[in-house]
Amino acid sequence: MTHIPSNPSDVPLPEMPGCPPPTSPARRRILSWLAGLTGTIAVACAGVPILGFLLSPMRNKSSSKLISLGKLDTFAIGATQLVTFDSPAATQPWTGIVARTAAYVRRLSDTEFQVFAVNCTHLGCPVSWFPQSGLFMCPCHGGVYYENGDHASGPPPRPLYQYSYEITDGELKAYVGHMPTLQDLPEVYKPKS
Ligand code: FES
Repeated sequence: MTHIPSNPSDVPLPEMPGCPPPTSPARRRILSWLAGLTGTIAVACAGVPILGFLLSPMRNKSSSKLISLGKLDTFAIGATQLVTFDSPAATQPWTGIVARTAAYVRRLSDTEFQVFAVNCTHLGCPVSWFPQSGLFMCPCHGGVYYENGDHASGPPPRPLYQYSYEITDGELKAYVGHMPTLQDLPEVYKPKS
């Protein structure tokens, strides 16, 4: 009586003259198992960055800290000035000079300020303040913002990002450290508690 294999891949292939010998069923199974494993690893590798991108808004809450930007009397009413500091988001001891970052502080009155991230809202280049024209300009692609941070011209899709601030003990303090991206809403950035 002839034995009929239950798995079709176990049926030995006939040899064809002039062709290399067919692969054995066991070898075919190992190869297809390896192909499946390679595919799974590839999908996992592609999925990790996508997952990181989707979950990054949840991570933002840890990168911002309330730090002092200076005594109130160092900011003149009506003026905009650059304040540099070490980013609280750079927590590794080897970060060094790269941790140095900045924000623009605009004082509107005794108690009203605007604290702008230096990053252009197009692709993140640091913008420069030109008091003569009352404009922020981006050197990368010509983005321009008014002194209140509103978009004036060029490719940036939205106003400059602003950090929330508070005044305590005669000092201006702001929640800085968060690197704004297009995921952030255009209103004043407030870290999630
Ligand atoms: S990065 Fe500023 S205009 Fe493109």
